[in-house]
Amino acid sequence: MTDLSRLRAFVAETTRIVEAHGADEAALLAILRPSLAGLVAHDDWLPDAYAAPHPQFYRQYLLYADPLDRWSIVSFVWGPGQTTPVHDHTVWGLVGVLRGAEVSTSFIAGSDDRLIAQPPERIEAGAVVAVSPRLGDVHAIANAHADRTSISIHVYGGNIGGIRRHVFDAATGAVKPFVSGYSNVAIPNLWGAPKAA
Ligand code: FE2
Repeated sequence: MTDLSRLRAFVAETTRIVEAHGADEAALLAILRPSLAGLVAHDDWLPDAYAAPHPQFYRQYLLYADPLDRWSIVSFVWGPGQTTPVHDHTVWGLVGVLRGAEVSTSFIAGSDDRLIAQPPERIEAGAVVAVSPRLGDVHAIANAHADRTSISIHVYGGNIGGIRRHVFDAATGAVKPFVSGYSNVAIPNLWGAPKAA
């Protein structure tokens, strides 16, 4: 089993940060961002089962969900060329790229309900970007690579797999309700192993 020390330390630290700064999103993100950057600076801790791509669909594996629904951490695994629909989150989120690279395209509301794409932003391994209703909450993410897997670690201000949110048709502005769930099926429980000494 992979050494989970880095993930365990991040989960403990994030729980303390959310406990202390949960009411102040700007302060929370300012403190949490370097912490996530530290986690994704080392690609040696994510167990293979949480890094497995699917031939057709991107995967989102829950790594940990706060028991009070204040936050969650998820590995997103992108096969070659895979992309999300245009979507929102309704809570704050930080995206740190662990492996490969991703392209994030933000959207803003136009005058006639249609969404206007902003210039795409390429996020390389080690980099962290933020989303939230306050900062801009609608985007699409794609694997920047057409020939290999990319992986990012996402931290959200809620249990993201169970949150009622939205996907958008950028051309028409049509909105559909969306609950993402998680891709975890028959993969190891991360929390049963004794803590490293
Ligand atoms: Fe997103």
